[in-house]
Amino acid sequence: MKTLMVTSGKGGVGKSTVAVNLAMELSLNGNNVGLMDVDIHGPNDHVILGIEKPEIMTDGKHFQPIEVGTLKFMTIASAIDSDTPIIWRGPLKAKLIDQFLQDTMWGDLDYMILDFPPGSGDEPLEVLKVYDNKVDGAVIVTTPQKVALGDVEKIMNFLKKMKVPLIGIWENMSYYTCPHCGKKHYLFGKHTDELAKKMETAIIARIPLIPEVGEKFGAANLFLTRSQGDVRKEFESGVKKIVDFLSTED
Ligand SMILES: Nc1ncnc2c1ncn2[C@@H]1O[C@H](COP(=O)(O)OP(=O)(O)OP(=O)(O)O)[C@@H](O)[C@H]1O
Ligand SMILES: [Mg+2]
Repeated sequence: MKTLMVTSGKGGVGKSTVAVNLAMELSLNGNNVGLMDVDIHGPNDHVILGIEKPEIMTDGKHFQPIEVGTLKFMTIASAIDSDTPIIWRGPLKAKLIDQFLQDTMWGDLDYMILDFPPGSGDEPLEVLKVYDNKVDGAVIVTTPQKVALGDVEKIMNFLKKMKVPLIGIWENMSYYTCPHCGKKHYLFGKHTDELAKKMETAIIARIPLIPEVGEKFGAANLFLTRSQGDVRKEFESGVKKIVDFLSTED
């Protein structure tokens, strides 16, 4: 099984969108894939999957993951009321992540995709602990604004320190294609290249801003797996780079 972290220094940049679309694509390509929403404070992978009320079954010892086609999915959203904020103290959070990863009937997986909240808090540390510090790779998601990149650099340094192999940067909302003139507008600049160069890492993909996605709720967010044309090509090439990288890891 290959374990993949999808993370970022910043919130709202599209981590969950990328993680869920990637997990779904790998699963549609015939792989056994697990997806865990490790964002305990604001889980929303289920929303992207179009599941209104996720329900996790348990026999008291094990959890049965939610199945979306062949994709196996776990989220804390099943256990909390979305309107009530939960104050998770460190140990409790760690225990929950531990249980979800270890006591779930994942079956034989080819890939385990872990979608994190932004930053280097308890969540990545606990996941790394569960996997004995052996995660096969990390994808950093960011938008191209200058202001996002300092925080992204921090998370990359954290991953380096933890010896997590960095696959590269997945740039999201890179540009907007005008529907009238067809011109690409780089709304947030093109600053990711500087960071990639500085950190000696690759840009895995550049996905445009697609206004309909942000406006709609639910499965419209699976837009990458359903994309066509140039976006499809870019998405497929990004997924392939990740798969190729992971296949070379022992
Ligand atoms: N390429 C895109 N074009 C338009 N909207 C997008 C795109 N990617 C993501 N979005 C939208 O941006 C918002 C944030 O995306 P998402 O939840 O994936 O980010 P996140 O980094 O996981 O956020 P959080 O830090 O809260 O976990 C969502 O409403 C999503 O639908
Ligand atoms: Mg998220």
